[in-house]
Amino acid sequence: MEFLPLVYLCLLTLAEISLGAESGPAVIKVTVEEGNDVVLPCVLSSKENLVQMLFDWKKDGQKEVFLYDAGIHYNNGRSGQDEQFKGRISHFPEELRNGNASITIRNTKVADSGDYTCDFPRLQPKRQIFHIKLVVGRVLTS
Ligand SMILES: *[C@@H]1O[C@H](CO)[C@@H](O)[C@H](O)[C@H]1NC(C)=O
Repeated sequence: MEFLPLVYLCLLTLAEISLGAESGPAVIKVTVEEGNDVVLPCVLSSKENLVQMLFDWKKDGQKEVFLYDAGIHYNNGRSGQDEQFKGRISHFPEELRNGNASITIRNTKVADSGDYTCDFPRLQPKRQIFHIKLVVGRVLTS
């Protein structure tokens, strides 16, 4: 029972941290074990058709992960994708018309961990950016 005040303190601190996070943009956290594939979710609440639109996935604000512009993207001729993601990213063409710009990262590596953004720079009436935090955990081997 002597531990109770300490537990209380920890809970209070946790509560403060999560409250603090709420003042910034909402962040979706995704966790996966190294070597597995993972879907990073990004869906417009308006469910607007994205087939003729532009969306851009970046890692840590700088690395180009996946850029789609009206049907042209990194898997069909567009250049500029970061080496780290070459051949490992795909989107869901059938889902675009439902406002779904989610992507898959195949064969995840620990180095893929980080903060991803899914950006709709030309969206009207207002640009929208979604934040996804990916944590790739190392598989423990004995
Ligand atoms: C977006 O598409 C992916 C892949 O098909 C699917 O798993 C996910 O549930 C979709 N999200 C929504 C909100 O429909």
